[in-house]
Amino acid sequence: MTLNTGIDLVYLLAAIGFILALKGLSSPRYARNGNLLAAAAAALAVGFTFARPEVRAHTLNLVLTLVAMVLGSAIAVPAARRVKMTAMPQMVAIFNGVGGGAAALISVVVFVIEAPGQPAVYRIGEVLFGVLVGCVSLSGSAIAFAKLQELMTGRPVTYPGQQVINALVGAAILVLAVSTLLTASVPLLAATAVLSLALGVIFVLPIGGADVPVLISLLNSFTGLAVAASGFTLNNNLLIIAGTLVGASGVLLTRMMSKAMGRSLGNVLFSAFGSVVTAGSGADGTGETRSVRSGTPDDIGVLLAYSRKVVIVPGYGLAVAQAQHTARELADLLMERGVEVFYAIHPVAGRMPGHMNVLLAEANVPYDELKEMDEANPEMATADVALIVGANDTVNPAAKSTPGSPIYGMPIINADEAEHVVFLKRSMRPGFAGIDNELLFDEKTTLLFGDAKDTLGKLVSAVQDA
Ligand code: TAP
Repeated sequence: MTLNTGIDLVYLLAAIGFILALKGLSSPRYARNGNLLAAAAAALAVGFTFARPEVRAHTLNLVLTLVAMVLGSAIAVPAARRVKMTAMPQMVAIFNGVGGGAAALISVVVFVIEAPGQPAVYRIGEVLFGVLVGCVSLSGSAIAFAKLQELMTGRPVTYPGQQVINALVGAAILVLAVSTLLTASVPLLAATAVLSLALGVIFVLPIGGADVPVLISLLNSFTGLAVAASGFTLNNNLLIIAGTLVGASGVLLTRMMSKAMGRSLGNVLFSAFGSVVTAGSGADGTGETRSVRSGTPDDIGVLLAYSRKVVIVPGYGLAVAQAQHTARELADLLMERGVEVFYAIHPVAGRMPGHMNVLLAEANVPYDELKEMDEANPEMATADVALIVGANDTVNPAAKSTPGSPIYGMPIINADEAEHVVFLKRSMRPGFAGIDNELLFDEKTTLLFGDAKDTLGKLVSAVQDA
């Protein structure tokens, strides 16, 4: 067995590791192990790549690679450690973008080396695919990052003739790509790359902030495909497998997120949803006159303490307030008193897939206390209290009852079916979709205004005293 065959076997092991890691990542209980397994498989594959004779033969390249790895780690490790949970989507965006850019660069470099020898059309095709998709992913992710980081407006950016301009850029890329295929010209490939970067920008500009996490998942899958293309270019099976896994899982995640928002992917990408809808809105803090019932921590504490069943519905506000530990404290206290408590998890609660699961896992909430929406909903009608902690759109009954509402058709947690509804939020401001929530005005609803960590803390004291 040659050294390279041995290394290919290690790659196969790493590929199996990636597949098992994805399996682990699909459940909160095994997600941490899945993540560690993926990291170990990647380390194994990268480590053994250095053993390849053709890699070791180029000392300068080896040194440059090591310097790049050290620099990259020096930037990425502290950034990943320090990032706030609410800023995770933009971090994923920027990491994903550089992945796409790296895949595009690999394709360009291989092409520059091979172009004088008139490579076969299929080789040029691989390179073109890697460059086009990688560049779109790089620039698109950069704009997504800028939107989420509020470096630019999060609203959809539209301008006259937008669709015509997009179509012209798309057509120009097609012409350039075919010309590159026929001529193996490096300048034409460079022009394709530049226009692909432009396409990434104009593709993402009209997408509103609320939809950007879905877009990031799609761009993630683009990066996977670009990496798979560079795997073909470099004849590297592991890159092909890993890229395809990322590509496929990104597409699946994108579909699942769109479905959980009750919308088609086309609607997510090409409609202006995500801009704050204020027309006809009353609950957005602009001239609201209808009254709501607000309660005191003591009243609500008594209600919770003497309930039979309490369902906690967490949302984005739980993440903002970092109130997961206090939520668990309250749940534990209620359970000690014999109250049945569970957390109802909506698939797009928060701002990224699995956001609530990750938060609650951080507070060591036992997995069997988390119920996904489909499991939780049949139980909502028998709950005494739905305690909504920083959630809004994901419990908005307009999704069921108001055709024409931007969220109509989105499955929700049926908090409205509980006997009492308690909202913990800071104001009457709407959620991410920017629309009113009638449940706030329902006669069985009580609001406790304030930062969720603070109000949950007060509820803990109130339950202790009840
Ligand atoms: P939202 O509808 O965004 O509502 C969050 C609520 O939390 C707001 O009403 C806000 O009201 C409250 N809040 C914010 N900070 C708070 C704090 N410190 N303490 C207490 N409350 C606080 O949240 P959701 O129900 O989780 O829905 C998620 C939304 O994001 C959906 O529209 C979903 O489609 C969208 N989205 C999600 C994803 C994924 S994958 N999760 C991806 C794309 C889009 P106040 O300002 O009054 O406090």
